[in-house]
Amino acid sequence: MQYENKATKIARGRYDRNAAFYDLMEGLIEGARFKQWRPLLWSKVEGTRVLEVGVGTGKNFPYYPAGAEITAIDFSDKMLERAKVKARRQEVNVRLQQMDVQSLEFQDNTFDTVVASCVFCSVPDPVRGLMEIERVCKPGGKVVLMEHVLSANRILAMLMNLANPLTVRMMGPNINRRTVENVLKSGLIVENVIDLWLGIFKLIEARKLAPPL
Ligand SMILES: C[S@@+](CC[C@H](N)C(=O)[O-])C[C@H]1O[C@@H](n2cnc3c(N)ncnc32)[C@H](O)[C@@H]1O
Repeated sequence: MQYENKATKIARGRYDRNAAFYDLMEGLIEGARFKQWRPLLWSKVEGTRVLEVGVGTGKNFPYYPAGAEITAIDFSDKMLERAKVKARRQEVNVRLQQMDVQSLEFQDNTFDTVVASCVFCSVPDPVRGLMEIERVCKPGGKVVLMEHVLSANRILAMLMNLANPLTVRMMGPNINRRTVENVLKSGLIVENVIDLWLGIFKLIEARKLAPPL
């Protein structure tokens, strides 16, 4: 099922445009913060069939659990091209596919765990994307997200809302998303939220409800 609208086209275009500079642009925060948080994110994975959503240039490759059967998707061809080069160079065993999380081409109940880092800030319809994740996750399966969200501090939130149009146009991400609330809206059960930094960066652990035995 193809899901294409103007907002998705524009969002994908921004990542296609910035793909060549992405690692450079994110270099500082990667070294200062993300590098410490990625091992924690991947330590939460359960089972062997894993989907990474919004793989980008493949920054999570070094943290993939040994023995896992990983499929990774991204809607941007240009980001994916970089991930393919990196996967070859780093000899990472991953199936890379161009796909939109808002319309996943996988069957229901396919994956043990779905992982994403810094993705739901830019998915045009985040609740739809999270509902798709819920659909392809096995009953009782896990969803782990590392995301930045709108601050609960009123002044900081006001500044983030003001700066948002700029960050979206220049880089792609919205800095005012309420991703924990969006996960709840998708029907997933939020089990744990770890505050990584200043109440803005969070690690969200969620689960798909398993039918009673
Ligand atoms: C900020 S980057 C993060 C990349 C990577 N996860 C990381 O941690 O470095 C966001 C990525 O999500 C992808 N993305 C955004 N919306 C998407 C969608 N609807 N479907 C699939 N990928 C999407 C973008 O193309 C981009 O590669």
